[in-house]
Amino acid sequence: MFYRPDDGHGLPRNPFNAIVAPRPIGWISTRAADGSENLAPYSFFNAVAYTPPQVMFASTSAKPDRDGTKDTMGNIRETGVFCVNMVTEDFLGAMNASSGPWPRGTDEFDHAGLDRVPCETIDCSRVEGVAASLECRLVSVVKLEGMANFVAFGEVTGVHIRDDCLTEGIFDLKKVRPVARCGYLDYTTVRELFSLERPKGA
Ligand SMILES: Cc1cc2nc3c(=O)[nH]c(=O)nc-3n(C[C@H](O)[C@H](O)[C@H](O)COP(=O)(O)O)c2cc1C
Repeated sequence: MFYRPDDGHGLPRNPFNAIVAPRPIGWISTRAADGSENLAPYSFFNAVAYTPPQVMFASTSAKPDRDGTKDTMGNIRETGVFCVNMVTEDFLGAMNASSGPWPRGTDEFDHAGLDRVPCETIDCSRVEGVAASLECRLVSVVKLEGMANFVAFGEVTGVHIRDDCLTEGIFDLKKVRPVARCGYLDYTTVRELFSLERPKGA
């Protein structure tokens, strides 16, 4: 089949995010100017540069109690920082619990029964016990086409790795088992790895 998004896909459900899959999940903690804290998952998320290390995530649609966006983006606009927490199988329930459209000011750490620890380089909390967290300073927000579509880019200013996730100096994804978002309501977990040599000269 072929379709133009403007004309509609004619399928029971939109296949778009099943085509761009699996996507890593950035579980993003933020703090508002008034000090309240927030946590929510974003799968329009990725790493985009090495030096300095940078990440991005996209926020789509708005909450009625926020000025044209969601709490995460709103808080980042206020304080200029955010922390990306890694989602693994053991945190799946908490991640899902933190994704509801809770009123502004709801603390999803409390809602999901999570403990928090202060970040080292930014004024924000991270999720205690996750395999890794990236502390980030906002670099820019880009407005995309459409209503309430924004991308935030952040420079990673601090990296936390849980010690047991390192095997002989390698961040051991077989042990960590990151969860990724597929299409519809589906997820996948990294359980298998294989290596592939790059072409010579790469
Ligand atoms: C696995 C998962 C991935 C999600 N990815 C995104 C995303 O990339 N962008 C987005 O705007 N919302 C995404 N959502 C929905 C938000 O998490 C949800 O709207 C949440 O209430 C936003 O919280 P906030 O207002 O506290 O930022 C995702 C939800 C789940 C469960």
